[in-house]
Amino acid sequence: TKSPPVIAVDGPAAAGKGTLARCLAESLNLPYLDTGLLYRAVGRRMLDERLDPASQSGEQLALSLRPDDLKRTDLRTPDVDRAASLVARDQAVRQALVHIQRAFAAERGGVLDGRDIGTVIFPDADVKLYITASARTRAERRYMQMAGTETETNRDAAISEVEAALIERDRADATRAAAPLRMADDAVRIETDNLNAGQVLAEAIRIVKSVLDAKMV
Ligand code: CDP
Ligand code: CDP
Repeated sequence: TKSPPVIAVDGPAAAGKGTLARCLAESLNLPYLDTGLLYRAVGRRMLDERLDPASQSGEQLALSLRPDDLKRTDLRTPDVDRAASLVARDQAVRQALVHIQRAFAAERGGVLDGRDIGTVIFPDADVKLYITASARTRAERRYMQMAGTETETNRDAAISEVEAALIERDRADATRAAAPLRMADDAVRIETDNLNAGQVLAEAIRIVKSVLDAKMV
């Protein structure tokens, strides 16, 4: 019998990868891994230890990563966004994290979301999805996720600030030498500007079923 599927979910920042991948995993009864957390945890520990992620290597921290490091509640701050993207440029860090990601899905399959799942981590993934939306849409989504401290008059300026940071991080992620963000040739792209999370899930399930069915023959 065929082993459980591996499903890759990649795309730029705040596209809705995590929301989709989590729901997809639940509905298909597969394990779920947010691979961005690995880079965030290394970035967080570099900041904690006063190391500079732009000039120093996080390899030792990546090699000594523990499950509790991924459960920290301070992994989604703007400084960790930047630190994660900087440590993610380091090939030695990426190499240290490859094994964790492949081992995660080795026996029971899984849904993994990130930047290089379909291109580098699982080039033979059963299904590859590429989730995207305009930078403005993604900035609005990320803004809505953050605790609403800004007043209504600051809303546009605050969203523009989030948008500028997302664009810069996407640029860094897509232009780096090591495992850059790009859509795999055999990925299916979902443009989500005009879809809510439920509609994206429905579309993804439809794609997963048709790709898996086509592979059965
Ligand atoms: O949630 P968001 O899309 O904002 O970011 P994330 O998925 O948590 O990833 C944070 C950073 O980790 C990204 O900007 C990438 O630089 C890096 N990353 C990566 O290089 N490869 C992955 N598979 C996942 C994340
Ligand atoms: O993982 P990634 O950074 O790509 O995105 P996320 O953390 O899943 O954040 C997406 C946010 O946008 C969540 O608050 C979702 O509820 C919302 N959203 C979505 O995920 N998909 C849509 N089609 C619309 C909104």
